[in-house]
Amino acid sequence: MASPASSAPGGVAVVGSGLIGRSWAMLFASAGFKVKLYDIEQRQVTYALDSIRKEMKLLEQSGSLKGSRGAEEQLSLISSCSDIREAVEGALHVQECVPENLELKKQLFAQLDGIVGDQVVLSSSSSCLLPTRLFSGLVHVKQCLVAHPVNPPYYVPLVELVPHPETAPATVDRTYALMRKIGQSPVRLTKEVDGFALNRLQYAIISEAWRLVEEGVVSPGDLDLVMSDGLGMRYAFIGPLETMHLNAEGMLSYCGRYSEGMKRVLKTFGPVPEFSGAAAEKVHQAMCVKVPDDPEHLAARREWRDRCLMRLARLKSQLQPQ
Ligand code: NAI
Repeated sequence: MASPASSAPGGVAVVGSGLIGRSWAMLFASAGFKVKLYDIEQRQVTYALDSIRKEMKLLEQSGSLKGSRGAEEQLSLISSCSDIREAVEGALHVQECVPENLELKKQLFAQLDGIVGDQVVLSSSSSCLLPTRLFSGLVHVKQCLVAHPVNPPYYVPLVELVPHPETAPATVDRTYALMRKIGQSPVRLTKEVDGFALNRLQYAIISEAWRLVEEGVVSPGDLDLVMSDGLGMRYAFIGPLETMHLNAEGMLSYCGRYSEGMKRVLKTFGPVPEFSGAAAEKVHQAMCVKVPDDPEHLAARREWRDRCLMRLARLKSQLQPQ
């Protein structure tokens, strides 16, 4: 039986209750953690609690709610907070989710640095701000790291853990264990690098996709199919390195067979695209034929994408590796 809320193992503070803050709150609650949700805008927290309630009820009805507790019990673990000191008091983990603005985040971490003790982990959800820019000079820098989720975090489990050079290994270990506990899939970067790992891979793909379309080799629609009906099918289950391993008699065999061909093709890759002008117009028009860029159509398509990801997440959990 699930343990009651009162015996929840330590508390978590989520600072910023927008899209990502709401997802983190749901994930922590799904594993039985008490969550204090703080936002500089009180009405944002009110809206967040309301939308979390609606989403959890829908997830419960469709059998997709995470964790062993029911929606009501999970909801009872999440409370709003209008005072940052109160929010972080007694917390073992603080997950920052304020907008992606360096000055704003630096101010917030400086404020947190002044009020927290030596036991808490201070974790930023930043998509691309480097830990040295966020945390350098903080008294509690050893307790700081970036834990970058992927949107939508409730269905896409990856979290990139990126340390500052002075982050204590124990901070990364603790956050890794916490992420596993809430059902996410953490990966450790040993040092910071611009774009972290996920966006470096994503931008490499976007860059070559753009060049192929700009040069008229393939239409925008067909380019997307190359990924969604081709590479993406296997990448949902195995990564590029394991793909190499399986596509020959092991990795060394793959390198022996295909490295010359890979290097030849890679040398033909062009410069970084500008992502503007006629090419941007062409891609935009093609995308709008599929999904018109008004808020209703975009929202409907995002909802469809999230439903697909939810089903995929379920399938992945059923198909345990052999
Ligand atoms: P958002 O704009 O939806 O939410 C930000 C929230 O922070 C708002 O509710 C705002 O009122 C609040 N806020 C602003 N200043 C604050 C302060 N000083 N103290 C407390 N709360 C404050 O932003 P979103 O999309 O949730 O992004 C949050 C972070 O997560 C960003 O760093 C972003 O880069 C990162 N992230 C976003 C992803 C996405 O797809 N949206 C994916 C992965 C990471």
